[in-house]
Amino acid sequence: MIELKNISFAYEEKPILKNISFKVGPSESLVIMGPSGSGKSTILRLILGLECPQEGEILIEGQNICTMKEKLKREVRKKIGMVFQDGALFDSLTVGENVGYYLLEHTDMSDEEVTARVTQMLGFVGLDADEILDVLPDQLSGGMQRRVAIGRALLSTDPSVMLYDEPTTGLDPKATEQVLNLIRKLRHERTIATVVVTHQIVDAISIADRFVVLLAGELVFDGGLEELRDSTDDGVDTFLGPFRASFEKVNRRQFVR
Ligand SMILES: Nc1ncnc2c1ncn2[C@@H]1O[C@H](COP(=O)(O)OP(=O)(O)OP(=O)(O)O)[C@@H](O)[C@H]1O
Ligand SMILES: [Mg+2]
Repeated sequence: MIELKNISFAYEEKPILKNISFKVGPSESLVIMGPSGSGKSTILRLILGLECPQEGEILIEGQNICTMKEKLKREVRKKIGMVFQDGALFDSLTVGENVGYYLLEHTDMSDEEVTARVTQMLGFVGLDADEILDVLPDQLSGGMQRRVAIGRALLSTDPSVMLYDEPTTGLDPKATEQVLNLIRKLRHERTIATVVVTHQIVDAISIADRFVVLLAGELVFDGGLEELRDSTDDGVDTFLGPFRASFEKVNRRQFVR
């Protein structure tokens, strides 16, 4: 579904990613972890085709996103839903206008039809349209904003790939659980390849089939939970070290049932 082959990327002269390769299968869920500045968001931008690598290629369903014609690129982008690190809702538009934005701008659907689709979508992401349709985003909690952003991504695209950048950062445990449930539900109800960037090890464990760990632009780990737990790689340890305690706690919950 998604394949990165020997990607190297630099902003101007500043190298950001070095020789990164990994694949994500059609209904697989991959979590990208790594310290701040290690290049996680940059990888998502590359998958979306917002930037192109200086070396290597990115294939979406076998097609190179960087060399394809604009028209095809638009088609491919429609298969990719993105939830940005800050939610990136339009502050001056209501929740309804945010979620229905694509349908309002890019289709000739009537307002009534759009409202019906938006209402249904808000229900899908666990929000009550009657309460929030006409509200501005800054009147919602962080967790609600994140779910509105997921709803908007789903109505803007018909995704076979969903990319989430730090979807639970800054949320309380209940809101975190709601967002994680939504990510899991989407992946199971539709065949969606999922890539989640997160610092939250506990959240990562609950959604990942596989993990990759980035350190200063280099991929230092690619594997499953048990391999990650047992990894003796210095790079992995540098990152996991401070989190080992929570990691072990979840391990016990997961493995000692
Ligand atoms: N538009 C840009 N121009 C130049 N450098 C950039 C740009 N965007 C990001 N960078 C640099 O690229 C590096 C990787 O940034 P990126 O946003 O991918 O990190 P990240 O792993 O997502 O970090 P965080 O966990 O803080 O979100 C950083 O050093 C950052 O300063
Ligand atoms: Mg980031």
